[in-house]
Amino acid sequence: MSGSLATVSYIGATILFILCLGGLSNQETARRGNLYGMIGMTIAVLATVFGPQVTTAGLPWIIGSMVVGSAIGLYLARVVQMTQMPELVAFMHSMVGLAAMLVGYATYIDPAASAGLAGAEKAIHEMEMYVGILIGAVTFSGSVIAFGKLSAKISGKPLLLPGRHWLNLIGLVLIIYFGREFLHATTIAEGMTPMIVMTIVSLLFGIHMVMAIGGADMPVVVSMLNSYSGWAAAATGFMLSNDLLIVTGALVGSSGAILSYIMCNAMNRNFISVIAGGFGSDGGTPAPKGDGTAQPVGEVSPILAAETAELLREAKNVIIVPGYGMAVAQAQHTVYEITKYLREKGVNVRFGIHPVAGRMPGHMNVLLAEAKVPYDVVFEMDELNEDFPDTDVAMIIGANDIVNPAAQDDPTSPIAGMPVLEVWKAKTSIVMKRSMASGYAGVDNPLFYKDNNRMLFGDAKKMLDEVLIALKA
Ligand code: TAP
Repeated sequence: MSGSLATVSYIGATILFILCLGGLSNQETARRGNLYGMIGMTIAVLATVFGPQVTTAGLPWIIGSMVVGSAIGLYLARVVQMTQMPELVAFMHSMVGLAAMLVGYATYIDPAASAGLAGAEKAIHEMEMYVGILIGAVTFSGSVIAFGKLSAKISGKPLLLPGRHWLNLIGLVLIIYFGREFLHATTIAEGMTPMIVMTIVSLLFGIHMVMAIGGADMPVVVSMLNSYSGWAAAATGFMLSNDLLIVTGALVGSSGAILSYIMCNAMNRNFISVIAGGFGSDGGTPAPKGDGTAQPVGEVSPILAAETAELLREAKNVIIVPGYGMAVAQAQHTVYEITKYLREKGVNVRFGIHPVAGRMPGHMNVLLAEAKVPYDVVFEMDELNEDFPDTDVAMIIGANDIVNPAAQDDPTSPIAGMPVLEVWKAKTSIVMKRSMASGYAGVDNPLFYKDNNRMLFGDAKKMLDEVLIALKA
């Protein structure tokens, strides 16, 4: 492929990526957005593999790696459960970070990469490598820890080392100092020591940053690492002089940063303190994480599926709040059936979606769209939080942290300040879950003990099936 055809293909792929992001901003156009992204990526890969920068001798290596990579990707896509998607995404971010690190080292030790460079040009090239490895290392180790936390292989509790902000500052000073040493090195061997020290410090920084964040604040970390992985890809693009990688990385980096900002607003957290790590972790002590087997404590009022159906049948306004448990139980199709039935009977059924419900941004919207729930009854938290006092039944399906009144009432709670859906203001709230276990943040939920709250214990799918049968009886 000629150089100019490769450039035209790159421009075409860039436009498709922008259209893809535009499409993904709305549920109704998301499918089309995905299609644009897939076509753009196919063009980008073909234009790179058959472009002028790849020699004929290198082709078998690239094609061989692509076959292995595609086989692993296909296998993972087939076996991974919807509930494992967030950890898969974290794993992929870690791979982007690792790739940026490896490309950085490979570029540094390849004499051809810096041949003919001198003065400012050489310094800029070296800065690209140093910063690329730095971002790559933070992304890699941070994402590995995020993977561990999301898959419950590492405790979700924040690890707060004494003087952690000082540790971060010392790390930053070391990175700047060794950056200076690296730029002054006259040989590759001489530059290797500061490069390795910086890599170790960056890896430790990534681990420390994500370990310090716990419970309900994880969504911000996930979107932030998404952003970092974009910047790591852009840095790789600079090292490889690949314009498309720079643009694509910048698109991912900036859209991830915007998402992190939105997440911070949703969680009522300060964006800057996210970067410093350990934000929102100072207050309160999280309770031990529930494992689904905890026994009820205090006065709670259980309810049966038949009674739930009765309340729903008599209601005029119903708000359904789905959470992670709906995804686990795969109850969205039954939720749709119940919604359809009630709407046909004239009940005003709406859905209230918390920005961090589930385990990834838009998790609930994806599930509801899959079950064909109409978009016009699905609302953001802010759009209907004021409507709960006029609501007869608030039905909470496998949600916990996002409906926890302690976020408003208890300043010592680890989730204090996080906006929540005010379901307790409805005439009756019904929480569907298997036990009294806590949610992701590991915090007890006072909602369960309120006078107007009922607990429908059991697997959400099983319970909703029973409710549907009772409704239709
Ligand atoms: P959670 O607070 O995690 O609560 C989910 C509840 O579902 C659990 O208490 C669990 O109780 C119940 N459950 C699990 N399996 C169930 C099943 N088969 N049937 C019925 N119930 C079931 O979820 P949430 O309310 O959606 O809040 C999300 C939490 O995850 C927040 O803390 C958020 O910060 C965090 N988080 C979110 C993201 C993103 S980006 N959305 C990423 C990482 C973390 P039982 O065990 O008693 O059934």
